[in-house]
Amino acid sequence: MKNIKVLGIGLLCGLMSCSQQIPQQDYESLEEISFNDQWKFSRGKKADAMKKDFNDASWKSLDLPHDWAIEEPFDIAYNSRTGGLPVHGEAWYRKEFNVPSKMEGKKAFIHFEGVMNNAEVFINGKKIGERPYGYIGFELDMTQYLNFGEINTVAVKCAPEDLSARWYPGAGIYRDVWVEFKHPIHIAFDGTFIKTPVISEEKAELVIDIDVVNSLEKQSSIDIETIVQNQKGEKVGNITKSYKLDKNAQKTVSQTLTIEQPEIWSMENPHLYSAVTYIKQGDEVLDKYVSSFGVREIEFLAKEGFLLNGERIQLKGVCLHHDQGPLGAAVNRRAKERQLQIMKDMGVNAIRTSHNPPSKVLLELCDKMGLVVIDEAFDNWKIGKVENGYNKDWDKWSEIDLRAMIRRDRNHPSIIMWSIGNEILEQTKKDGWKEARRLARITKSEDTSRPVTAGFNYHPLAIVNKLAHEIDVVGFNYFPMRYEKILEEYPEWIVYGSETSSCTSSRGYYDLPVEPKVAEGSKQVTSYDLVGPPWAYPPDLEFDMLEKSPRILGEFMWTGFDYLGEPTPFGGKDNWTNGYWNGDWPSHSSYFGAADLCGFPKDRYFLYQSQWTKTPMVHVLPHWNWDGKEGEIIPIHAFTNAEEVELFVNGKSFGKKVKGVDLTPIKMTHRDWKKKGPMMSKYRLSWDVPFTPGKIEVVAYTDKKEVARKVIKTAGKPHHIVLEADRNLIASDGKDLSYVTVKVVDKDGNFCYTASNDIQFEVSGDGKIAGVGNGDATSVTPHKGKHMEVFNGLALAIIQGTKNASSPIKLTATAEGLASAETIISFQQSL
Ligand code: GAL
Repeated sequence: MKNIKVLGIGLLCGLMSCSQQIPQQDYESLEEISFNDQWKFSRGKKADAMKKDFNDASWKSLDLPHDWAIEEPFDIAYNSRTGGLPVHGEAWYRKEFNVPSKMEGKKAFIHFEGVMNNAEVFINGKKIGERPYGYIGFELDMTQYLNFGEINTVAVKCAPEDLSARWYPGAGIYRDVWVEFKHPIHIAFDGTFIKTPVISEEKAELVIDIDVVNSLEKQSSIDIETIVQNQKGEKVGNITKSYKLDKNAQKTVSQTLTIEQPEIWSMENPHLYSAVTYIKQGDEVLDKYVSSFGVREIEFLAKEGFLLNGERIQLKGVCLHHDQGPLGAAVNRRAKERQLQIMKDMGVNAIRTSHNPPSKVLLELCDKMGLVVIDEAFDNWKIGKVENGYNKDWDKWSEIDLRAMIRRDRNHPSIIMWSIGNEILEQTKKDGWKEARRLARITKSEDTSRPVTAGFNYHPLAIVNKLAHEIDVVGFNYFPMRYEKILEEYPEWIVYGSETSSCTSSRGYYDLPVEPKVAEGSKQVTSYDLVGPPWAYPPDLEFDMLEKSPRILGEFMWTGFDYLGEPTPFGGKDNWTNGYWNGDWPSHSSYFGAADLCGFPKDRYFLYQSQWTKTPMVHVLPHWNWDGKEGEIIPIHAFTNAEEVELFVNGKSFGKKVKGVDLTPIKMTHRDWKKKGPMMSKYRLSWDVPFTPGKIEVVAYTDKKEVARKVIKTAGKPHHIVLEADRNLIASDGKDLSYVTVKVVDKDGNFCYTASNDIQFEVSGDGKIAGVGNGDATSVTPHKGKHMEVFNGLALAIIQGTKNASSPIKLTATAEGLASAETIISFQQSL
């Protein structure tokens, strides 16, 4: 990863008409320079928008990253499978920039971390490159197209097609953009690979491969110096060597050095080193490149499973799509950090980046937070899953994109496996293994230090057709009942649940009686967690199977967060097939998450927490607001990691239940299980209790001592709003966010579990509302608006400061009939 630096921006008017102010940027840095600011944007076809003198005065001004689709209203006219938002059609971005004449002689590069999609890039009217795949970064050489000493124009056309995704892809330049002016002798894009072939307590031996480019027409001699620093910035090793470079050529050189008593990267102490590499000629520094890396050892063994630094770790994983709920796909570091923290608090230690290369930010955060990652390249190969999918680009781009992913990501200690595909349809083809072999070989030609994996859903065919035999670690989607049999047949295989459960639910919503189906006429799914597509099953089954098959590496549940699009089980009559999914509008976002679209935990979140964490906890469901159901039996479920739980209703004990002894029958709809009747779950404790308003209280005990307690009260009428900011102090970098939870409570402050009041937001000070949401998959209230109805009592306002903000933000929330609330968010230069 290159170190980044955003340089000061001044104003230059002399060189141009001054219809608009062009930032004067100093490009002399040896590091990448942010190129996100001051772009112009317009949707629709434009014949001449690539031209230098095209008049874009009427276009919208904005800073990147940007997702145009999330800014538009939800509409039944769009495919609800991709979120009910306009993710297709043509759109253009343009930016003018000054290139001082002193930069002449340098090589000029522009680097896009991701453009959704079918990007074409033009400099001063000339096309310099294209990239169909929206999830991959790319760098283009713009040197020969630039006018030095003049204003230049970059134009980017995006042309995502309709029916090109199975979920919400976002639209536009949704990841960061950078430029760099480099000496003709420089380190190539993503051009370092740091390997640690020997690791012990005493030392770590590093091999640093460096791809050096000499674009001069003459042979050149250089020195390359690499300095390795620990997390505190202290030098722990260095090496300098001299090299000869042929003219107009690229060469990979290797440097080796040793770190004494290395700090090992682990989940508890994710220590990161950085290698700063300089290319020098005499005293002149031609290039500088900073690579972040970790020293850690991973092993995958048929008997012991996954070992990190010699210790077995069960993978407690989640699959995550890339969108950030109300913010859409536009990448934001704080949004990702919050998402990963919410997942860690659930007990998660692993992420599968379903089903595409993630943002760089996600991987940087996983490195820092001690999460391990399966980096996934593709959702399909040559056989498509949607009409206009990536399969159209497969022949030309698959090798290029796969190599690009590995080269970009290979220094991240968090990455433990490369996934070459999810549920690829080639599983069903006799010769599908050939493509698997080709991709596995490409992967290994880039990196032999991590295994190749893939997620299979047609397990028998993937095995019979020998596709599964081509990969190192075999992922099975939704077949825990087959784990033991597969291990019996293939004792040498290393296996894990690449996708598990796929249970669906709506936060805070419960149907009675408790049945594994959607209630007639409802567009919400009960949070007793029994409902899903035919391949789905409650988390309990996976827990049980993993306990019975300890050789299985672990699981990646589908999904950690809800995501935009794929509103299963509300797909209309075309459910489970391709095509438009608008039969059940307005459902337009997923119900699969353990947390909803805003990151508010659903009940299922706590079921995982009870299995994956040790800090004592107890959770109880449902709510206790059952107006009109007085005297009716309400099943109460509790999740805990303690030994026993006692239930009190209005102070009266309904008895203690012992975890692992008192079982709860769970009705199953999984196609291979349903004939067997209910599963007796040892992961939930339950009581059947007649409803009387008041309170329910669960008390968890270990060694007979109380270790956790939770109370739910019957709420009175909605009375006032409560605002809870996750942070009342944020950085004034124009990017940082405060997530403000909006709660509706009764006059005594009791949370109103069924409230649905519409909340209006008002912001003053140096900031804005970056997004609003409520986690309701059927809400079509825009995420970029100024109001949002609470869904089962909760909503979210995401507040963002302006660049160089100083005046604190005041967020005020009002609603008809409720007392209002406000919260203040202040600034600090950096946090
Ligand atoms: C899987 C698929 C995921 C998602 C999930 C929903 O088969 O790999 O992308 O669609 O089903 O259950």
